[in-house]
This record gives sequence, C-alpha cells and structure tokens, in this order.
Amino acid sequence: MSEQSFRPEFHITGQMGWINDPNGLIKFKDEYHLFFQYYSSNVYWGPMHWGHVKSRDLLNWERLPVALFPDEQDDGCFSGTAAVWKDKLWLMYTSYKENGGGENIRQLQALASSEDGVHFVKHGIVIGEKDLPEEYSPCDFRDPKVFVEGDTVYCLVAARKKDGRGRILLFSSADMFKWRFEFDLFGKDSGGIMIECPDYNGGLGLLTYCEQFQPAQGNKHLNIHSTFYRLGTLDCKGRSHTFGESEIIDYGFDFYAAQIYRDTPVMIGWLNMWDRNVPYSKYGFAGMLTVPRKLSIKDGRLWQEPLYKGRKAVTYNNLKVSDRAVSGVIEIEAENLKRLDLKLRIGNGAQTLVTIDKEELTFDRSSSGAPITGKETDALSVAGVRKMPVDKSDKHVITVVLDLYSVEIFIGGRALSSVICPDISADGITLVADAGSCVYTRYDVSGYMGIDK
Ligand code: FRU
Repeated sequence: MSEQSFRPEFHITGQMGWINDPNGLIKFKDEYHLFFQYYSSNVYWGPMHWGHVKSRDLLNWERLPVALFPDEQDDGCFSGTAAVWKDKLWLMYTSYKENGGGENIRQLQALASSEDGVHFVKHGIVIGEKDLPEEYSPCDFRDPKVFVEGDTVYCLVAARKKDGRGRILLFSSADMFKWRFEFDLFGKDSGGIMIECPDYNGGLGLLTYCEQFQPAQGNKHLNIHSTFYRLGTLDCKGRSHTFGESEIIDYGFDFYAAQIYRDTPVMIGWLNMWDRNVPYSKYGFAGMLTVPRKLSIKDGRLWQEPLYKGRKAVTYNNLKVSDRAVSGVIEIEAENLKRLDLKLRIGNGAQTLVTIDKEELTFDRSSSGAPITGKETDALSVAGVRKMPVDKSDKHVITVVLDLYSVEIFIGGRALSSVICPDISADGITLVADAGSCVYTRYDVSGYMGIDK
C-alpha cells in the first residue's frame, strides 16, 4: 500500500504533520477559502503556521501554499478569522510570543492581507497590549473573530480576567488598523478557565465558542474542552446582546474550535481534541477537519446536516443489513424505530458500536481499534462512550459519515463526531433494526469530495 492509502478518503488533513483549528473561513472572489493551524515538521503541535486550501463547492478542495509563517514578529501564528474589506482578503490572527514563558507570554492580535487570496503580507500587531483594558491578561488573549458591519469592522477576541476566567471582548475599528475596546460580552466569568475561538454569525443569530477545563455537567459536555453555541443577536453599536443559554454543538469525543462561513451557513470544526493520543499519527499526519455542515435554526435550536455528494453504492430495504466499507456516507431511514444496532469497521477483533434505544443514541469506541485516551476521568469517557439525545419521531433519518479514522453521526439536526483507529482492513458493517421499516443506503463519495494529497 502506498502511504496515500493510509490517509482519510475525504477529510481535510495537512499535507504532512500536525493540524488543529480551522481558521479564516471566508468566501473571496467566488471561492471558499479555509485555513488551519499547521505544523508540518512533526505529528504534534509546534510553531503554528496557517495551512491553506480552497474550494468552489465546499466538497472538493485544492491545496495552496502555506499562508502565514512564524518569523521575528510571531513565534506562532495562532487561530483567527478572515474578512473581505475594500476588495482585499484580510486575516486577523493571534501573534504568539513566548518571551521566556509564564507571565511574559504575549498573545496579541495581528493583521495580514492579500490581493489574490494566495500571497499574504503581514501588517503587524493591531490590537496590542495598550488596547486591552488593564484587568485582562495579555498572556491569554487570542483567536480574533473579525467581521464587517456597514462602515465598521468589529472583532471578538477571547480573553481572561487577570484574577478570573474566560471572557469574550468586542473591539471596533474604522480602518482595520486602529482598534477600540467596546465591551465584555459576558460581563461575568464563564465556566471555562479560558474561552477559545469565538465566532459570531449574524445571519443565523449564532455565537459559538469553546470553554477549556470546565467541569462536566451530566452528558452535556463531557470533553474537558467543549464547543458551545448560544442563540441571539449581538448589537455591536448598542454594546449589548440577547444570547440565551449555552448548548453543546457536538456530542462526540472529537470536535473543537469550529468556524462558520459568514454568508453561507456552513460550519467546519477540528475533528480531534486536545490532550488525546493520535494513534494514526504513525502514518505521518495528525489532525483532520470535519466535513462541512449545513446549519439552520429549527425548533429553537441549531440544526446540522453534513454536506456531501456521492454515488449510491448499495441500498437495502431490510431490518437486517450486512455491508462492507471503510469510508462513505450511510443514510438510514427508519419508520417507527424502537431500537437500532449499527456496527461499523468490524474486523480483526474490533468494532465501533452505534445504538439507538428509546430517546438516546449511544456511541461506543471502547473496542474500535487502537485505544484513544484523554484527560477526562468520568465513567463514560473512561468507558469510551458518548451519548446524544434523539427526539421522538415516526420517522428517523440517521446519516453516518465514515472515513478511515472517523465517524460523524447526524440525527434530528444533532451531531456526534469521534476519531476511531481500527485496522485499515476492518470494513464490516452490520445493521439490525427493530422498526416498522428500514432503508439503508450507502453512498460512495470518493471522486465527489476530497483533497489532493
Ligand atoms: C484552540 C487553540 C487556540 C489557539 C490555537 C493554537 O484549539 O488553543 O486558542 O489559537 O489552538 O494552535
């Protein structure tokens, strides 16, 4: 087997080495650009660059040269976002400076721009220490979300009170270069020690962000680092907002730092998690991005549906199915469903289990293949299990996006995404449904979505 065949079939990875957060999701001159935190020299986190890919349809991606590099100004180019302003593509990112570590670390917001969407010129730090109110720490000040409203450019930045926990701050500018602090969105400490990667989509009325090291509450957020959303609107001029309660975006083990295209309601997240081993890194790469998810707000909550295009490979109208595939998209339509047992990537003693019983989906990766461990200590995490609520319905549609090292499950607008690491040859699939009827269809998506490797 060539090295390429060990790569995910259609999930975005770095050409080699490590990737984490998606960055700078933006449509520029009719093309969707996507950047990501990238360290090509090894399969673990290191001095951060911005890797870069683009697409016309959000399904097929083309690699572009690395957009941002560390240099004398930045020891690392941390996460950030993009905006189109005066016909140019602008990137706002966090300039990370080590300065010997500890209290001397500086995380400040820097700017780069491009005329062609491929070559970027750095303009230096534009939201510096002097722009940050005294009570917030310049050591934990990162992940700018830049967006344009009328004549004004706004920027949300994750921050931490010197004597407290995570916050989100709003800044404004008339020219991208001079910034003014507007207000602290939270006004009180969040549950997380630090907030990361805030994103705001005015069209959807959606604020998303991550909280670090927050104690778990029931099944709500079992990952030590979790990604949340809140519905409402941000009135930048009025320095106020109407955001409701926080809800979890994804119920799986591996979903973080998501961003949304501003004018196209599509979200992409990091399909991995901090503080976990990455068994597939033995193949020379670590970290993947989720497939794009179409977003809408339905019944007062966030709906996510995977974006994909494929060729029907098999269809069975049966309560019992056995199939073979290591990747693709499986759609199951079940009427009057009482229980469903789906086993994926069966082979060489391994299997990944998805069960729907009553109003709950259980995902079990305890025997999925190479063990994946994290810092979570609660019983479910240690058992390799995650759960997701399933609404009562006469008809359920379950979509499973399967790739060499990942499973993303969608049902009733909710999502559960996790890494798995079975042998590449483990391709068995079985389905047993206790239902009125059940139609199983598998789509082959290779050739319809992917990235040149
Ligand atoms: C989130 C994060 C960001 C930071 C980046 C560094 O995963 O920790 O807060 O900018 O990763 O790579």
